[in-house]
Amino acid sequence: MAEIKESLFSAEGLDKRLATKKFWKVMMTEYWIPKDINFLWALGVVLAVTFTILIITGIFLMMYYKPDTALAFDSVNYTIMQEVAYGWLFRHMHGVAASVIFLVIYIHMFTGIYYGSYKKGREMIWISGMLLFVTFSAAGFSGYMLPWGQMSYWAAAVITNLFAGGSLEAWGLVEWIRGGFAVNDATLTRFFMLHVFLLPIVILMIIVMHFYTLRIPHVNNQSSEDIDFDAEAEKYLSGNKKDSKVIPFWPVFLSKDFAVVGIFLIFYFYLVFFNYNFAMDPVNFDPANSMVTPAHIYPEWYFLWSYETLRGPFFDMFGMKAGDIGLIIFGLAQMIFLVFPFLDKDPEIKPAYQRPRFHIWFWIMIIDLVVLSVYGKLPPTGANAWVGFYATALFLILWISLPFVTKADAKARGAL
Ligand code: HEM
Repeated sequence: MAEIKESLFSAEGLDKRLATKKFWKVMMTEYWIPKDINFLWALGVVLAVTFTILIITGIFLMMYYKPDTALAFDSVNYTIMQEVAYGWLFRHMHGVAASVIFLVIYIHMFTGIYYGSYKKGREMIWISGMLLFVTFSAAGFSGYMLPWGQMSYWAAAVITNLFAGGSLEAWGLVEWIRGGFAVNDATLTRFFMLHVFLLPIVILMIIVMHFYTLRIPHVNNQSSEDIDFDAEAEKYLSGNKKDSKVIPFWPVFLSKDFAVVGIFLIFYFYLVFFNYNFAMDPVNFDPANSMVTPAHIYPEWYFLWSYETLRGPFFDMFGMKAGDIGLIIFGLAQMIFLVFPFLDKDPEIKPAYQRPRFHIWFWIMIIDLVVLSVYGKLPPTGANAWVGFYATALFLILWISLPFVTKADAKARGAL
């Protein structure tokens, strides 16, 4: 190795050792973003900021939380909320961020679907995004259990019980997951470990991967135009910034993102200080009691649509038990968005408003997910059960029709 004269503590010295200038160029000042994008493209950075808030507030909460069934409830509702200075603030910031992050994740996902950002060349972005969705869901579920209130306990009982649904019972899976026959201390400590250690690490690694998958295909744009990034970058670098269709990630794109992040934070802190209750179920302010079942058990709002697909009034058919059918549909609902790039048979990348049939599909899917979420919170009896059943049937029909709908659009356009 050639001798390095520059000190380690200078920009030149660091560059000689770590190629920092090249790294900064590749990741920031010469990482090109299309000009033709709107505020929805800032939501990825909003997500990164919200995740950071979750990590920081989570670290403070962990200093006083006790992962023990005898102590957990009081450590949250008494120690953190009343004794520790600003403990209430960290709890509300954490709870509200956990809820709001799902709202932003759903909008971010459906932006990708609307503009076809999951299609050829960008499949890896989509797949890593879906892995984030699944790991965030696991983090949300495991975190909900920690305050050890009535809903923590019973949501954990119902959801872990899925692994005893239908024919799975014979495998003893649910006892293995719970570490016992019922939800108990061992269940709480293992979910605590998942929530504060394993899942955050895995999520961090997947976020790095998600960012990396964006680097080569670049982000999509509002008209889904296939931009020649090298040619446009050359224009920008030669001083013709006005005609170039691209801007650098840093400082131009990120400075706009920060404006959106600022507006988001106003909304977020408004919720934290004035409306935190929406992220806290009143039933969860009663300590967990295995002898008293709450009248209605339901998960957090972001799981309601998939929870509802599980509960339809199914009956034994095709040689399968009713419980198995609900479980299969539930499992499918969790994973089906993962294969979106492969079910969309339109070879061209176009926004939904230029794909008339898909455009209708898109809005029906959103309405169906809202209906499933609303009915997921209501007791599954009488007419409610049937609305849920038809909405689940529509959900399945939409997925089965997706390849045909997208093919029909492509044929009508002459692309197939
Ligand atoms: C906390 C989790 C996530 C973070 C921090 C994150 C971050 C980002 C960032 C910074 C971008 C680039 C700018 C933008 O379009 O916003 C992006 C793009 C993208 N993300 Fe995510 N994301 C997350 C979750 C997801 C999920 C759950 C999905 C869907 C399955 C997803 C799918 C995509 C897609 C398809 C793009 C490309 C958009 C385009 O090409 O226009 N992401 N993400």
